[in-house]
Amino acid sequence: MAAAFAGKVVLITGASSGIGAATAVHLARLGASLSLTGRNLDNLNRVGQQCEQTGSLKPLLLKGDVTNESDTKQIVESTVAHFGRLDVLVNNAGILEMGTIETTSLEQYDRVFNTNVRSIYQLTQLAVPHLVKSQGNIVNVSSVNGIRSVRLILILIELNKILSVWSRQQISPQFIC
Ligand SMILES: NC(=O)c1ccc[n+]([C@@H]2O[C@H](COP(=O)([O-])OP(=O)(O)OC[C@H]3O[C@@H](n4cnc5c(N)ncnc54)[C@H](OP(=O)(O)O)[C@@H]3O)[C@@H](O)[C@H]2O)c1
Repeated sequence: MAAAFAGKVVLITGASSGIGAATAVHLARLGASLSLTGRNLDNLNRVGQQCEQTGSLKPLLLKGDVTNESDTKQIVESTVAHFGRLDVLVNNAGILEMGTIETTSLEQYDRVFNTNVRSIYQLTQLAVPHLVKSQGNIVNVSSVNGIRSVRLILILIELNKILSVWSRQQISPQFIC
């Protein structure tokens, strides 16, 4: 497995903490060239340093909010401008809000929808032309809540169902999501 990702360019959203950060460090060990994004630049810098400590190339760190259309466009464009290609898009950035249909607001719904679903649609649209060229892949980080109900996280469950269906149907037929 060593250097299995050598020469591969991987863009990871939500790489400043949690699953995205762990994925970044793991792929750095495997030799990937990484483009890492998140809103918190301090956290992003820390993850970037952890990646470099594995002996990999210096990751490209891009601060941006995936619910902001121009930030999202900039993230994909800067990645391709810097590395000249894109092989893997990891759609990981996401938020969790607690509540049921009786206790949540439409503002909460919009916030979670825009972060966990709409941004993925836009990122995928922007990345697909580059992934077609590289015959690359998309990884969508969803949740078991997309297929199993858990009380009090209704919003996440409903929106993860959308992502799970997209992933099974494949947003673009060329990709296994
Ligand atoms: N951990 C679990 O048990 C679990 C279970 C089910 C699903 N998931 C899914 O797995 C993914 C990662 O979860 P996690 O547990 O690792 O969460 P986490 O530690 O809270 O990390 C979430 C990441 O998403 C980024 N993010 C959130 N909103 C963003 C926005 N508007 N623009 C840009 N980046 C944004 C955060 O970066 P900044 O704060 O720097 O912006 C952070 O890097 C999520 O999609 C989540 O729904 C996790």
